[in-house]
Amino acid sequence: MKKIIVTGGAGYIGSHTVVELIEAGYTPIIVDNLCNTSIQNIKGIEKIIDKKIKWHNTDCTNKSAMDKVFATEGKIEGAIHFAAYKAVEESVQNPQKYYDNNLGSLKVLLQCMSDNSIKNIIFSSSCTVYGMPDVLPVDESALFKKAESPYGETKQICEGMLKDDTCNSVALRYFNPIGSHSSALIGDCSADKPSNLVPIITEVAIGKRKKITVFGDDYNTPDGTCIRDYIHVVDLARSHVKAMNFLIKNSGKHAFNVGTGIGVSVLEAIKVFEESNNITINYTIGPRRDGDIEQIYANGSLVKSKLGWEAKETLEQAMISAWNWEKSKK
Ligand code: UD1
Repeated sequence: MKKIIVTGGAGYIGSHTVVELIEAGYTPIIVDNLCNTSIQNIKGIEKIIDKKIKWHNTDCTNKSAMDKVFATEGKIEGAIHFAAYKAVEESVQNPQKYYDNNLGSLKVLLQCMSDNSIKNIIFSSSCTVYGMPDVLPVDESALFKKAESPYGETKQICEGMLKDDTCNSVALRYFNPIGSHSSALIGDCSADKPSNLVPIITEVAIGKRKKITVFGDDYNTPDGTCIRDYIHVVDLARSHVKAMNFLIKNSGKHAFNVGTGIGVSVLEAIKVFEESNNITINYTIGPRRDGDIEQIYANGSLVKSKLGWEAKETLEQAMISAWNWEKSKK
């Protein structure tokens, strides 16, 4: 049973990945200080897998605490690094918090890996590294544009840190993760006030908000609203298992897009949510949001050919699971 350190393994994408790792026969070891998630996700993982999970309540930026984790765990095959802050707006207001934590935790992890002769790391990157791409669907060879936020900048810098290190790495560039595990036992427990589209839709559906404002309908897209590539978090989690299988056999530095390849507009996303869940969502059209790009969706050829991964879940399934998660939070 190969042990994998999963920093941020109690978070939204981390918890889903832990479940998939176990189902694939790995032994994930969670390292998380629960600073922006809940113990509920650890309990949820344990219910889904029907056994206890090993976890360390540890801050990944604390080198001596991380040294203890590695000393306790013995032989480790690789690491998957999720531990990071993710609220774009907050990163604009408090950039230092993002640089300290998001760069600091990767720095410490790489140092621990080097000290313990561990080579393999998978990093949570984002399609935000591309900015507004010149060519759609965007592929991995697209040059990085100037980041729209300190959050985006930390993703670009972390990819650079991996390139300059001696490790073997896979950067997974996530498109827009949505939904939850079908059990509704794990999900996004962060304290961040939702700013992403689907959590806002589910808050309208449950009555926490009166309506959702669609940010602009005058873009150069078929219905005038922005286009994104919404990926079911369970599919996204599975890509990490494929990436770890790959990294164990292949050395070097790699980056892959993780999306469905399908561009969906804001109005289409609202409609699919409504139809899948038989609920009407109250929305109005408002002005554009600063920093939003018009459209982005993934070219998934490379991840399919190299990792044998492609999205399997539908947008309808993702919207149903997002709604089930919202209802379970009450
Ligand atoms: C955002 C971040 C991105 C990050 C990603 C993580 C910004 C500018 N970008 O991406 O860096 O990696 O989240 O998931 O914040 N929308 C509305 N009304 C709303 C909320 C959203 O119309 O109330 C629209 C947006 O204009 C956008 C789409 O829905 O077109 C998706 O928005 P969102 O879920 O916030 O994701 P991104 O902006 O793509």
